[in-house]
Amino acid sequence: MQTRESLDQEAIRILRANDRGGFTVPTAGLYPFQWLWDAGFTALGWMRFDEARAWQELELLFEGQWPGGMLPHIVFHRPEATYFPGPDRWGAPHTPPTSGITQPPVVATFVRWMLERAQDKALAEEKTRALYPKILAYHRWFKRERDPHDTGLMTTLHPWETGADNSPAWDEALARVPVDPHLPPYTRRDTSHVDPSQRPHKAEYDRFLSLLEVYKRAGYDQLRLHRECPFRVVSLLIDCVLHRANRDLLWLSRRFGFGDEAEIEGWLRASGPAIEGLWDEESGLYHNHDLVQDAPIRVGTNASFLPLYAGTASLERAERLARTLEAWGRQVRYLVPSTDPAHPEFEPQRYWRGPVWAVVNRLVATGFREYGHLALAERLRQDTRELAELSGFSEYYHPVSGAGLGGGNFSWTAATWLDWAAEGADG
Ligand code: GLC
Repeated sequence: MQTRESLDQEAIRILRANDRGGFTVPTAGLYPFQWLWDAGFTALGWMRFDEARAWQELELLFEGQWPGGMLPHIVFHRPEATYFPGPDRWGAPHTPPTSGITQPPVVATFVRWMLERAQDKALAEEKTRALYPKILAYHRWFKRERDPHDTGLMTTLHPWETGADNSPAWDEALARVPVDPHLPPYTRRDTSHVDPSQRPHKAEYDRFLSLLEVYKRAGYDQLRLHRECPFRVVSLLIDCVLHRANRDLLWLSRRFGFGDEAEIEGWLRASGPAIEGLWDEESGLYHNHDLVQDAPIRVGTNASFLPLYAGTASLERAERLARTLEAWGRQVRYLVPSTDPAHPEFEPQRYWRGPVWAVVNRLVATGFREYGHLALAERLRQDTRELAELSGFSEYYHPVSGAGLGGGNFSWTAATWLDWAAEGADG
């Protein structure tokens, strides 16, 4: 068991050790590049002890932005052999090389939080002004390319875009993806860093990679992919994070007088009711949605609580969600397991099929706190804190034993400690 002070020092040491000169790798070896939503959480952590460095994290992330506005989920700032699939496999038309899909768009919200907390207000305002048009272009891309029929919900084209790669929520939709008969041979690198029992299976990897071939054949033409991509879902992680990000973008537009309010309000008017349409009265949860079958995906996950973070839920629904989460909390020691512990596919040590992820806890806790469920929000923070005290800054944790799983010395977990989980930190 470590103390608050020694963990603070350890968290700072991890961010510095994972710093590659302006961007932070999630962990050495397993993930040697810059990831989108990791960069957001990591910037919040840097903000606690080096504000200039925190802003730089986001500036470097946007070096990967495509001309159409898409912000890719990985920026390959420099070559590294320890990760697969690398730039060649993506074949994405960009310098520096990037992946060709996105990830939960946390940036607008986190920029707002960074601006509000900054000690150096002049620097924060200058950086926010420079980032704002890039974030706006990114959100416009979402609306234009991922919701061309104005349904209020985004089409997500890969489990990796959701951030929750092998969640049981994607099992059926992924199983329908045909394995490309000409899939070039490949060697996974992840299972040489981490015990395979904590990582996705080969059958999933074959399909993850077959989807990349579909994108390349379509020349990354998103509108074509709405027809041709065999995996199309609505992901609560993407849609709830984006809804909140649009609320915060609206706030930034007003705060600086950028004048984009009408456009952003239009997006919010569509996405709010659409997210509420994902509610399932019977389970007391929100569900992801399969767009190929046009059917709800009835698997409770840690993302099922995120309409609270989005701010779209009614007080009654927030109450139901609190009851559901409390029931989960009687089945595991540490909240929030990434899958409903009563679900047959719950696996407490396999990646997004059961383990606790500190960053999602933070988003879920923010939602409960804002809806006035303070005790539950505090339990989430305390569970996250205890996991770090018990097992250090792991990629994810066993929800029953609290054991650290996946990669160690993990940037976004360390950053989430500094910014939120540690006693006394606000938010
Ligand atoms: C894994 C996670 C993803 C994360 C990345 C880097 O792919 O599933 O959410 O962004 O690792 O940490």
